[in-house]
Amino acid sequence: MHHTRILGTGSYLPANRLTNDDLSKIVDTSDEWITERTGIKARHIAASGEQTSDLAVQAARIALDDAKISAEDIDLIIVATSTPDMTFPATACIVQNKLGIGGCAAFDVQAVCAGFMYAVVTANAYIKSGMAKKVLVIGAETFSRLLDWNDRRTCVLFGDGAGAVVLGASDEVGIIHAKLKADGAYSHILKTPGKVASGAVDASPYLYMDGQAVYKFAVKALAKIGADVLLEAGLTAADVDWVIPHQANYRIIESTAKHLGLPMEKVILTVQEQGNTSAASIPLALDAGIRDGRIQRGNTLLLEGIGGGFAWGAVVLKY
Ligand code: ACO
Repeated sequence: MHHTRILGTGSYLPANRLTNDDLSKIVDTSDEWITERTGIKARHIAASGEQTSDLAVQAARIALDDAKISAEDIDLIIVATSTPDMTFPATACIVQNKLGIGGCAAFDVQAVCAGFMYAVVTANAYIKSGMAKKVLVIGAETFSRLLDWNDRRTCVLFGDGAGAVVLGASDEVGIIHAKLKADGAYSHILKTPGKVASGAVDASPYLYMDGQAVYKFAVKALAKIGADVLLEAGLTAADVDWVIPHQANYRIIESTAKHLGLPMEKVILTVQEQGNTSAASIPLALDAGIRDGRIQRGNTLLLEGIGGGFAWGAVVLKY
């Protein structure tokens, strides 16, 4: 049992679908502008009262069914989120309770859009060290609640959702290699500075982004870490069957794929229907590719994510 394999996946999108045309009635924007700059056509928005943990539990139940295990078999729950239900306790503990189990370890990982990469790498370390046999890893976000719906530069980009994977110890190869990076010197280009302090929200509770700086940093960092993780694993781009990138926008994904020498036919895309769901975007795209039959057992997958921090990471694995 030296390896970490994906045993099952699941995902969940809130029912409310908001199109670009819907948005153009709220802010001064257009379907043409959003589509051309980002590839996004629609995103899903959580209902009022629907919490990040609710989205996470829906995705988790499907992943557990897919893995053919019950929630009681899980030794550890890791939720990657930057939009937790509350300051504390961790959303992972709330998810654990909603799944009707208690006792296993549960904690959140906060690495914004790279959160799922950080959570998978953490789960892999637990499994490889023998500290856990089955880990439920969830990326779940209600990013719509961080948006200033008067700010057309940001509110058109994001959506809500959750994706989950069950990772388990296995004799068969799963995760081949992984790499995480961070550089806090770039924290100012993408942030939500507000925090709860002395009974009020101190600083802006809305997402701020320098779009062009983020674009440049993201393409460079993702191309480099993708190439590095493949090289260190002794693989080349030709060995990759599918790339599952963080779904920030089509142009970042396309440009990164080009740098890596990977055709867009090998890239799983959900950004057009989901927007950027931060930590949820990679497991949502992974689940979409598996459920529609494109990703098959034995395929080599390259997962890549980047977000505020800046934090970024890549994982190459056999599905
Ligand atoms: N609709 C219409 N016009 C808009 C909109 C909008 N939604 N948003 C901005 N504009 C206008 C601006 O006001 C500006 O008008 P002006 O020239 O009259 O001032 C014009 O469009 C150009 O604005 P820019 O900000 O220069 O547009 P740019 O070409 O850089 O595109 C974008 C903006 C799409 C955000 C781009 O910078 C980008 O893709 N950045 C990457 C950001 C990203 O994906 N972030 C996701 C979070 S980070 C992550 O997940 C990695």
